[in-house]
Amino acid sequence: MCGIIGYAGHRPAVTVVIEGLKRLEYRGYDSAGVAFVQNKCLETVRSEGKLERLEQKLSRCDPYLATTGMGHTRWATHGLPNEQNAHPHQDQSGRLALVHNGIIENYLSLKDQLEQEGVEFQSETDTEVLVQLIGWHMHKDGLSLQRAISRALEQVEGAYALAVFSTDNPDQLWAVRNSSPLLLGVGQGENFVASDIPAFLNYTREVVFLDDHELVLIQPHSWQVYDSRNLEPVTKAPEHITWDVQSAQKSGYKHFMLKEILEQPQVIRDCLAGRIDRDTRKVVLKELEGWEVPTRVHIVACGTSFHAGLWAKYYFERWSGLSVQVDIASEFRYREPILKPGELVVVISQSGETADTLAGLRIAREKKVPVLGICNVLGSTVARESDLVLYTQAGPEISVASTKAMCSQMVALILLTLYWGQAKGTVSSDFSSKALKELESLPELMQAGIPGMHEQARSLARKYSVARSFFFLGRGENYPLALEGALKLKEISYIHAEGYAAGEMKHGPIALIDQDFPTFALVTDNDLLQKLQSNLQEVQARGGPVIALTSPGVEIRVADRWEVPKVWSQLAGFFILPALQLFAYEMAVYLGKDVDQPRNLAKSVTVE
Ligand code: G6P
Repeated sequence: MCGIIGYAGHRPAVTVVIEGLKRLEYRGYDSAGVAFVQNKCLETVRSEGKLERLEQKLSRCDPYLATTGMGHTRWATHGLPNEQNAHPHQDQSGRLALVHNGIIENYLSLKDQLEQEGVEFQSETDTEVLVQLIGWHMHKDGLSLQRAISRALEQVEGAYALAVFSTDNPDQLWAVRNSSPLLLGVGQGENFVASDIPAFLNYTREVVFLDDHELVLIQPHSWQVYDSRNLEPVTKAPEHITWDVQSAQKSGYKHFMLKEILEQPQVIRDCLAGRIDRDTRKVVLKELEGWEVPTRVHIVACGTSFHAGLWAKYYFERWSGLSVQVDIASEFRYREPILKPGELVVVISQSGETADTLAGLRIAREKKVPVLGICNVLGSTVARESDLVLYTQAGPEISVASTKAMCSQMVALILLTLYWGQAKGTVSSDFSSKALKELESLPELMQAGIPGMHEQARSLARKYSVARSFFFLGRGENYPLALEGALKLKEISYIHAEGYAAGEMKHGPIALIDQDFPTFALVTDNDLLQKLQSNLQEVQARGGPVIALTSPGVEIRVADRWEVPKVWSQLAGFFILPALQLFAYEMAVYLGKDVDQPRNLAKSVTVE
């Protein structure tokens, strides 16, 4: 789970590489490094910690003549996050440098073999095995760099996206992928490889999406893709990316997280765009045309995306009469799920690269059950490996804590529910048209309501900032949102929080309640309102303070009542969600935490 970038062109490579790494920092940020060739010598500069530390080190040397370079920002999997284990790694000859994202599973046995051949290792990483192995094939078998890469990869088991160059041909950079993301950016007199598009978006919008086992050679004026297994050339064409480079930056906000929370009205608009027929007032999902309504749906996802799936289950059952199973991907992949013909696996992933989610997707495909991928990142592995793809169109999400992505997933899932409900006849055209009208009115309502919600979040966060634990309670479709509220608070403020189905409190958790243990209750006007009110009375009877996030008209007496703007009760979740996000955000800011890059977490979890 790291970010890599490689550059071959006419600009000072190190400057380009550092700039790219800044945009990839969301993929990992415990150490970083760059490599470049200057005066025929290979130089690597590496540093523990965030990129600023690396930049300080670089300011002490003068790397500005090099026009080919590579960089890496790391989230450690093998070996401590220190300078010695930071990438790029070199081979024993000091002629090769390599950066890698992924995990080499059989690295210990390869390392043993190489050590027996006299290779001396400098780090504890699996990555160094790769570069030493390539170097060894060049040295021992007299292979070219291209052939040595191919030979080494035959011996390697695991996931990788890597870039490598040699002092022999300092204008050439090779890169290859298998199960980890890698893209090629095609510029004018310059070419790039990177883990993600924002890394080079300042320089080019022409992108080639590389597939597994594709090996690319970039030079300033040319690029060529090969099959890494037989080295046959592969024909690929660039695609034009319309993303605005500004949208991958903070636009003046203090944190990406806040910017992304506030973008949610636009995210809803973008996800709805082109998916509602103006005349018939029906949902149109061109992506699903020609596919029957499934007999059963299995939703598979991780983290926040899992919560979106759990939330959608209530709507699939209620509106489209569909039987739905929702699984955490890391469980699903090791169970023996019963998947039958006619059923559909829906994988939900913002990044489209989460390792467990991908494993779930592949199990479904092995069992010959079609997969619908709901994801945000264009050309991601989920998008490429699914039979059908519904993009959430939320734009890049940089903050590690996911916010707008969940909102967009909820919109996509509601559209899907209505689409299948229309096809099955479980929703009338009146109902469907009412639901769509309400969905379309959401962005404006949110735009108007969010500033007030933000104020309220700020004052409640201050009031409760001494609490060391919180419960988040909800029933029905508010239960998954309670889980998400607790997750957001944990992730960025490091306050212990548990999300519960309110009816479960009496089975144990209520024992924890006292005046220092606040409960955050999601009390919107749904069929279970009265039952939830009784649960809250039980909490209050034990001295527990309650913050009720509620909608106008709901009667409730609690320590703090937080009323979100009025909206159709079925869609109240679209206000509950940003309220919970803003509360967690304001708490983390007040407590001085690193909001966008919380400790121990990474944006895109591409390892198991
Ligand atoms: C990581 C992120 C979470 C995200 C989860 C699933 O843990 O920190 O914010 O929800 O991965 O990611 P995905 O890209 O598959 O939605």
